[in-house]
Amino acid sequence: MAILKIARMGHPVLSQRAEEVRDPTSFDTAVLVNNMIDTLADSGGIGLAAPQVHESKRIVIFFVPEARSDGDDEAPQELTVMVNPVIEPLDEDQEVGWEACLSVPGLMGAVPRYTNIRYSWTGLDGKAHSREAQGFHARVVQHECDHLDGVLYPMRMEDMSLFGFTEETNQNRDLLAQARPDEEFGDDEDDDER
Ligand code: NI
Repeated sequence: MAILKIARMGHPVLSQRAEEVRDPTSFDTAVLVNNMIDTLADSGGIGLAAPQVHESKRIVIFFVPEARSDGDDEAPQELTVMVNPVIEPLDEDQEVGWEACLSVPGLMGAVPRYTNIRYSWTGLDGKAHSREAQGFHARVVQHECDHLDGVLYPMRMEDMSLFGFTEETNQNRDLLAQARPDEEFGDDEDDDER
């Protein structure tokens, strides 16, 4: 059990493509994942990718809390550990929503993401898994898997006027939503860092 140091934007480990994990069932992988789980719990975030703890490996953990689920289409999701995950958009639909990141502390921004995806991965048991996801669940998976390709959410933003310090942006969020009624923004708890 250990709480690991989280790399922040600017550290080169966050901007490189992480390596495939050859043996998801290895002891080393299990130790890293356990430490990532401790680190995520300590941070209060909802997702964490291995490069964020200075390990350039294709491993992601995340969950979807009850407060962020929205009916049957967006059920809460228990903690999921994914090795070598792959995402496939199911259609062209995208929506804009607020994101934050443990590696970009204190800031948040509005990011377009695919609304409907299928994602697949290898578990720590070495077995293949896959799931479909929509909305916030799909957003979290896309955000985390981007970390494995050296992409941080500000690099996905199309309107940099919607990037700012969380403390300031929270006060202006209603105004921002009114200014862009065509876009879908998340609810009040969208500033979970991940
Ligand atoms: Ni992140």
